[in-house]
Amino acid sequence: MDPLCEIARKHRLAIVEDAAQAIGATYDPGSKAGNDGQSLSRGKRAGNLGDLGCFSFYPTKNLGAYGDAGIVTTNDETLKERLKALRAHGSKKKYYYDYVGVNSRLDTLQAAILLVKLKHLESWNQTRRKWAALYGELLKGSEVNIPYEAPYAGHVYHQYTIRIQQRDELAELLKSRSIGSMIFYPLCLHLQQVYRPLGLGKGDFPEAEKAQREVLSLPMYPELTEEAVRYVAESVKEFALSGVTRK
Ligand SMILES: Cc1ncc(COP(=O)(O)O)c(C=O)c1O
Repeated sequence: MDPLCEIARKHRLAIVEDAAQAIGATYDPGSKAGNDGQSLSRGKRAGNLGDLGCFSFYPTKNLGAYGDAGIVTTNDETLKERLKALRAHGSKKKYYYDYVGVNSRLDTLQAAILLVKLKHLESWNQTRRKWAALYGELLKGSEVNIPYEAPYAGHVYHQYTIRIQQRDELAELLKSRSIGSMIFYPLCLHLQQVYRPLGLGKGDFPEAEKAQREVLSLPMYPELTEEAVRYVAESVKEFALSGVTRK
């Protein structure tokens, strides 16, 4: 983020962070530590690095509401006032409208639920890191690409996404063993119907398309058990190994 912020400053651009999957994640360019399965205490938090930070509280997120919810964070007073108006039909003073806004107020009931869950977020995130570290340890040295955590980053593992060439076969095997897995995401942005008018197509973003074919997210939530993580990792390793023998 530091190099990005530097470019933005130079060209007078604003940075809007999409931190929807990164609530609680940390950034500390000075740090040499990797995922020790624990600490999230270093550096600054995602959503506090640019001009605006956007978070989703969609029920599946690390901090999930019981319905739709989200927030925008900023340290800028002017932006704060503008955002407050925009979320309420563009109105600063009731029934007087300064901007064309939207109805995007955080529902009070959702806010109450989130306030209760917020107290647990840090420990839930740390538990996710513990399972990620265990997956990493168990899958290290196999034919599977595991997530890389840069020394300056404190990942909160909204997903634990591996990459493997025979991804669909692996997903089938996991399913046959009652292990859930998901593809995040199955179709690149430039190949989506909505962006057809841009005239982009297959081959325009080869790395993104390769990722689309190879990614698979393994079970990841705080309530996992060591036994479950070991069962998943063993199944993945077994599959990877059988691939090596097939080659
Ligand atoms: C990275 C990212 N950005 C944005 C969103 C959108 O969040 P919401 O559906 O709450 O607007 C999501 C949720 O799926 C997400 O994962």
